[in-house]
Amino acid sequence: MSQDIAVGLGARAYEVKVGNGLLDRAGALIAPFTRRGRTAVVSDETVWALHGERLTAALRAGGLDALPIVVAPGEQTKSFEGLADLSDRLLALELDRGDVVTAFGGGVVGDLTGFAAAIYKRGVDFVQIPTTLLAQVDSSVGGKTAIDTPRGKNLIGAFHQPRLVLADLAVLATLPPREMRAGYAEVIKYGLLGDLGFFEWLEAEGAAVLAREPAALSRAVARSVEMKAEIVAEDEREQGRRALLNLGHTFAHALEAETGYGDALLHGEAVGLGMALAFRFSAAQSLCPGQDAERAVRALAAAGLPTALSDIPGHPFSAAALVSHMAQDKKAEGGRLTFILVRGLGEAFTAKDVAPEPVRDFLVAEGAKP
Ligand code: NAD
Ligand code: GLY
Repeated sequence: MSQDIAVGLGARAYEVKVGNGLLDRAGALIAPFTRRGRTAVVSDETVWALHGERLTAALRAGGLDALPIVVAPGEQTKSFEGLADLSDRLLALELDRGDVVTAFGGGVVGDLTGFAAAIYKRGVDFVQIPTTLLAQVDSSVGGKTAIDTPRGKNLIGAFHQPRLVLADLAVLATLPPREMRAGYAEVIKYGLLGDLGFFEWLEAEGAAVLAREPAALSRAVARSVEMKAEIVAEDEREQGRRALLNLGHTFAHALEAETGYGDALLHGEAVGLGMALAFRFSAAQSLCPGQDAERAVRALAAAGLPTALSDIPGHPFSAAALVSHMAQDKKAEGGRLTFILVRGLGEAFTAKDVAPEPVRDFLVAEGAKP
């Protein structure tokens, strides 16, 4: 049994299946998208060691040969070197345009594989089997694919929609608790940006989601995917509403850049802290009631996410350095910064013309050095 959520993109429409045990049905589900009875499966060492055998067996049961390509885990794999290595291994398998590439892992594997699929022989189809909570609720849906460069994250990439997404909740059983919490930041993001009822449900049931109680986890993932699918269908290329999915990200990207995109601060943790800062900044600018900001921060803290600069290694940060990262953001224009801010819980909006000075003052008030 699965909940099937459609991403309505016309000729590029696809389905996201959310349920338990989808891995075991992967062969039958992916086979219709392949022509030659095989699929290259890109995974990282950790995921492959835990679940590779099961996926291989399931693909075989569906009549598909799995051609594994196992890469090193971690953000550093989402690089030009990682892309060159993956492309070369796809070429060595003599994959052609009738073949499908399967991304089996978290956001790192999904983003890298999706981008490789977008440019391999000018584009091949790919399927996402996301194995982290973050990847199930966010990165596997919507077709953003990318690699990082030393100048910043996700700067080189393409929009390339998958043909199918299989979000098997059972796979999350092996995910470390810290990664669950990081993914949960993206779940709560949907409530905070546009669904007060979902946020209120998470206030009550967040602990059950984090404890992976099946009914709560299933509702959290399905509602998140539903919201993302709806937003992507309306605004695939981020000309408008899709930008709201970046709630917390202007602060988050600056903090990730300062902490080196590593273990000190996971992407989802940065988003959690970024959302706390976005709510407090909105309240400080009198855009949002202070009590809404407090409630948002309380829910994030209850999930064990960082909500203050002092919660993360590297504190005290330099406000000037953080603002300088924000100024290099893809969306900054003419020295003005872009933020997703809030008018209240579930009411995010894009603020395109934010002056850097109040942001710097706010960060100093939050404990950063000038
Ligand atoms: P990740 O892919 O690095 O996975 C986190 C860790 O969990 C890795 O060590 C991985 O090996 C391990 N892991 C994965 N599945 C597991 C499982 N089932 N059991 C045990 N361990 C498992 O990180 P992530 O948080 O999934 O993704 C982060 C990336 O996603 C970032 O690069 C970010 O930029 C990107 N992202 C992309 C989008 C998008 O729209 N494309 C959206 C959000 C984030
Ligand atoms: N994760 C933001 C987006 O997909 O647009």
